Amino acid sequence: MRRSLQDLEYRTDFVRRHLGPGPAQQREMLDELGIDSLADLIDKSVPKSIRWDGDLDLPAELTEPEAIVRLREIAERNTVVTSMIGMGYYGTIVPPVIQRNVLENPAWYTAYTPYQPEISQGRLEALLNFQTMVSDLTGMDLANASLLDEGTAAAEAMAMCHRVTKTDSDSFFVDEDCHPQTLAVLETRAEPLGIELVVGPVEEAADTAVFGALLHYPGSSGLVRDLAATTEALKAQGALVAVASDLLALVTLTPPGEWGADMVVGSSQRFGVPFGYGGPHAGFMGVREEFTRALPGRLVGVTVDDDGHTAYRLTLQTREQHIRRQKATSNICTAQVLLAVMAGLYASYHGPDGLRTIAGRVHRLTSILATGFTAGGVAVANETFFDTLTLSVPGRADEVVAAALAQGINLRRVDADTVGVSVDETTTKAMVSAVWSAFGVEASVDALDATVESPVPTHLQRTSDFLTHPVFHRYHSETEMLRYLRRMADKDVALDRSMIPLGSCTMKLNGTTEMVPITWPEFANIHPFAPLDQAAGYRELFDELEAWLVEITGYDAVSLQPNAGSQGEYAGLLAIRAYHRSRGEGHRDICLIPASAHGTNPASAAMAGLKVVVVDTAENGNIDVADLTAKAEEHRDSLAALMVTYPSTHGVFEAEITDVCRIVHENGGQVYLDGANLNAMVGVAKPGEFGADVSHLNLHKTFCIPHGGGGPGVGPIGVKSHLAPFIPNHPLVAEAGPDTGAGAVSAAPWGSPGILPISWMFIALMSADGLRAATEVAILNANYVAHRLAPSYPILYTGAGDLVAHECIIDLRPITKETAVTADDVAKRLMDFGFHAPTMSFPVPGTLMIEPTESESKFELDRFCDAMLAIRAEIEDVEAGRIEVEDSPLRHAPHTAYAISSEEWDRPYTREQGGFPVPYLRESKYWPPVGRIDHKYGDRNIMCACPPIESYQ
Ligand SMILES: Cc1ncc(COP(=O)(O)O)c(C=O)c1O
Repeated sequence: MRRSLQDLEYRTDFVRRHLGPGPAQQREMLDELGIDSLADLIDKSVPKSIRWDGDLDLPAELTEPEAIVRLREIAERNTVVTSMIGMGYYGTIVPPVIQRNVLENPAWYTAYTPYQPEISQGRLEALLNFQTMVSDLTGMDLANASLLDEGTAAAEAMAMCHRVTKTDSDSFFVDEDCHPQTLAVLETRAEPLGIELVVGPVEEAADTAVFGALLHYPGSSGLVRDLAATTEALKAQGALVAVASDLLALVTLTPPGEWGADMVVGSSQRFGVPFGYGGPHAGFMGVREEFTRALPGRLVGVTVDDDGHTAYRLTLQTREQHIRRQKATSNICTAQVLLAVMAGLYASYHGPDGLRTIAGRVHRLTSILATGFTAGGVAVANETFFDTLTLSVPGRADEVVAAALAQGINLRRVDADTVGVSVDETTTKAMVSAVWSAFGVEASVDALDATVESPVPTHLQRTSDFLTHPVFHRYHSETEMLRYLRRMADKDVALDRSMIPLGSCTMKLNGTTEMVPITWPEFANIHPFAPLDQAAGYRELFDELEAWLVEITGYDAVSLQPNAGSQGEYAGLLAIRAYHRSRGEGHRDICLIPASAHGTNPASAAMAGLKVVVVDTAENGNIDVADLTAKAEEHRDSLAALMVTYPSTHGVFEAEITDVCRIVHENGGQVYLDGANLNAMVGVAKPGEFGADVSHLNLHKTFCIPHGGGGPGVGPIGVKSHLAPFIPNHPLVAEAGPDTGAGAVSAAPWGSPGILPISWMFIALMSADGLRAATEVAILNANYVAHRLAPSYPILYTGAGDLVAHECIIDLRPITKETAVTADDVAKRLMDFGFHAPTMSFPVPGTLMIEPTESESKFELDRFCDAMLAIRAEIEDVEAGRIEVEDSPLRHAPHTAYAISSEEWDRPYTREQGGFPVPYLRESKYWPPVGRIDHKYGDRNIMCACPPIESYQ
């Protein structure tokens, strides 16, 4: 039949591309499940009590080209201006080889947090480089693998000082020359913990009894001070000293580790990561060795595999919130891995000499600028500096800032009489001249070059070596770097290789079209404190995204500021706390949390000054409603909140959720619904309408921001109207939140705007029908996997109609009991089939939680299920006594190419069985680069920096 032009019209149907199974595959799966239609599946699996049956009121879906055009229009409303604002954010040149092969490469950006080290060696190595770079530059013994930004890193340092102090003081000193956004985050964090901030000049730091102090080196004004005496005086009274610093400055300045600091924090943004209007960027923290176990965030360490080869892994994980739970004082989970990787690679690419050149040029230009100002009659307030000058221009600040802007440069307006200027690696001689002219000064860069001297006193000029490891010397040519990046990526499993069935993590497609806009200069190159009119496009994007999220969740207001789910939890709890206070009920401080909650929940509650009371889990995995009722009633006079994950961490829609909400409300509490699992609800249920008061969403799950190997993420909160006055705000940008808000939870007013275009694109491309279809197919895929695996592996929990929500837990415990084959064995054996393991032992020890997401096709689901069934057959060999578990391919997994091809092979199974257990592997085989990790060795020999040079020889 002849098709009409209309039929032939080529419309890239994004929804069809986003969903793994097409209509025919969906039909096959529904038939297997004995269910008529997707609508029927949803009717059967989603409880009526929460069901929302309308059509989401979203703009009609766009094709990929249309969405790009529309977002371009928005982007073009931003004005890209050279930024010399400073305040912790500086222009940088992203090395194109890193931009294209890391930031824009799915092998890096679609990877997951390296909890399975054997298939994450590439990103673990890159993170180890980052840690080494930070510890070398700061002069500290070790550093973690990133925090969320400089402000929250400073707050983590404060909390850590409080945790380990031997003093009984609750006061913390903050240097008055601190970035204002850092101070704002410290204020937010201090109050619920009962910490009093003492802000003043460093000369007075030791005048009050404090448990710790935050000094700034260089100061926000640019001033470089000798802080050794202050540090000594603070330490003499038992206080701990944290220093906020700048990695590029530390290339030339004596590092804080050499003058006594206990910890050093900051941002690695200027090491090759764009502004992004405030983020994402990797914060860092370096500490002295004695504080290793108190260090928040993830830490990469060196160990060996079962063949004795060097291997990397996350170390000392017991420090993390998911183990420490309510004892935690840090809730960091998702951090900024992708950006930390980029910053570490920037250091490798330039090496110490390259960095000295960059820092030297920045410092020289600043010295020239300062000399020109002084000669031109403009007073430079800071006698010493690295890259920033504070200039005194009585009554003229606005005029100067406007004159600079007229020449395409943003300066920092400190107050009506003071202007700040920061130089960075993108600053040119012409820009320096333009800045002078904005102040009415005329001078010549070239003429001054020959004469200027550094104002930094000799003893503050760095003499110690740094970045001596080969990794910072070998990859200076683009070819070498390109191959290094390829080598590392090849070691890892990311979504570009196979399905990553991690329960609770929603490893779905991160569409290429969604990713494209994040490197557009109009989004990437805007400083977070640029004048608002230069970010008009961003504001439009925020407004649309907020309105869409309001529509999707049923809440009344959204804050985009939290830059991870954990920070969203914290912000939501602060809103609840402020709400109770506003009603004269500030004494409410009990937070009920089910035993199965994600570890960030109790950690956030503790940070928000709430006391955690654990609610039991019933036999079927649901909240034990009787226990909840009893505890809510027992604490009715002091109940602040319930934190509940929905669908539950067990992957089930609990029909009782509306009762649960009612019980909490009746007892005076608010319901915090952890929305990390929203992927099972979009378009079919709205938490804001079935009883919850506030939720965070993980845009890095449901709304397609990639996991980046462990970050970045965005954790916006949605709230009902009564909580809207209490969402985050920001002291530097009034438009970022309500006047009555809870303060800043992130350093930047809108957190990590640079990646919000991804979620905007996803919603614009999917629209109402597409989003609902995604939910339906996510639930279909999970039920299909559960159905295929159920005869071989018991499914731990199911809801109505024996169905699961968007994930399922398979219970290995009976198998382990019978055969000694553990969940770990199965997880590692899956690697031999080229798969990333499901989530292990969360929320139930000895189980595997599988979440396939809507983006996996039936073909891939079958490949995964076939692998699981082949593993089951190997378990049966153990069960039947045909092989001892210790000798089995399960216990020896994963098999490296080295192990399979070594001279010696004394195992009772063939090499083929070890390396090629199913035929499809002959066509495409992923070889885990290391065998099973020896955690005990790593625990006994803690090493968290690149191994010593000898080990490379
Ligand atoms: C149920 C649940 N809540 C909270 C979080 C914390 O989110 P984030 O890692 O972004 O801090 C997660 C993350 O995995 C989660 O699964």
